[in-house]
Amino acid sequence: MSHDVRIAGTDVHFPCATGQSLLDAALRAGISMPYSCRKGVCGNCAGAVRAGEVQCAPPGREADTGLYLFCQCIPLGDVEIDPASWHRIDPSARKVHRVKVFRNLQAAPDVNLLFLRLPAGQRARFRAGQYLQVLLADGSRRSYSMANAPHESDMLQLHIRHVPGGRFTQQVASLKPGDLLEVELPFGEIEPQEASDAPLLCVAGGTGFAPVKSLLDDFVKKGVRRPVTLVWGGRDKAGLYLPEAVEKWRKFLPGFRFIASVEDEADARELGAWQGRVDAAVRACCPDLSGYDAYCCGAPAMVTAVRQACVAAGLDPKRFGCDVFVAGPALG
Ligand code: FES
Repeated sequence: MSHDVRIAGTDVHFPCATGQSLLDAALRAGISMPYSCRKGVCGNCAGAVRAGEVQCAPPGREADTGLYLFCQCIPLGDVEIDPASWHRIDPSARKVHRVKVFRNLQAAPDVNLLFLRLPAGQRARFRAGQYLQVLLADGSRRSYSMANAPHESDMLQLHIRHVPGGRFTQQVASLKPGDLLEVELPFGEIEPQEASDAPLLCVAGGTGFAPVKSLLDDFVKKGVRRPVTLVWGGRDKAGLYLPEAVEKWRKFLPGFRFIASVEDEADARELGAWQGRVDAAVRACCPDLSGYDAYCCGAPAMVTAVRQACVAAGLDPKRFGCDVFVAGPALG
């Protein structure tokens, strides 16, 4: 049995099977809406329900905002929804590739940069800010953002933080050139609004740097001229593990500004970085964010704190995009 889901103000509608979330049904039907985690954490998929009833987990979350997390809601009958934005996609564009490791670098004590090559003749199709899933032998999946720009489509670069006890991250250190992995992509719909010429604030915590790198490398490739401020935070100097990427953006992105934020006092002094948490760096160094777009990537608590700091500095909350890194198995 399925219910009919209509997008408010349009003739567009699609079926949603019993027990299926509104987001999954939309994606299956070739309708993309903003989303990232699919686990009820990032808030990107929030939208209104104009007619009909839905059941959400956990219930009651929508009471404050009137918005429902479509990744966590199932319809109880036919419904009309009003997502933040939507567009048609080709569901068959998502593909599984068997890729080969061609480089595996330890960039920090707890971060590996994994470079994967697609088979000859295959191309990875994705947009900056999207992610892939690594398919593990036990049938589970792990999500990682692409760190390379989309035009580098014969390869994939992943920044993998070691998670204690993590099933895939434990294997990562031992991966060597020639090893094979299966990955599926693309996932995620974050829309960092590359068409806008508003100044952009990017905030990355740790390996949240990966999707930001994809985006800014894409800006360099496309000659985007909007001013960009990047705040990159880590516990210590080792956490800012790819300074050469930052140097490239200093050179090729007009109006680029970089703020390093390090919690360790001695390392902050040595780097001349802001000392403290990344949200505190945003509060101190970006006092007026009216008219900005913001794009933040990292752990859930960090993203929440940065969102609050940005809104306190005058950012329109609708212009805050985020990619929240949630540990553990991904949803297929
Ligand atoms: S909360 Fe729904 S995609 Fe993240």
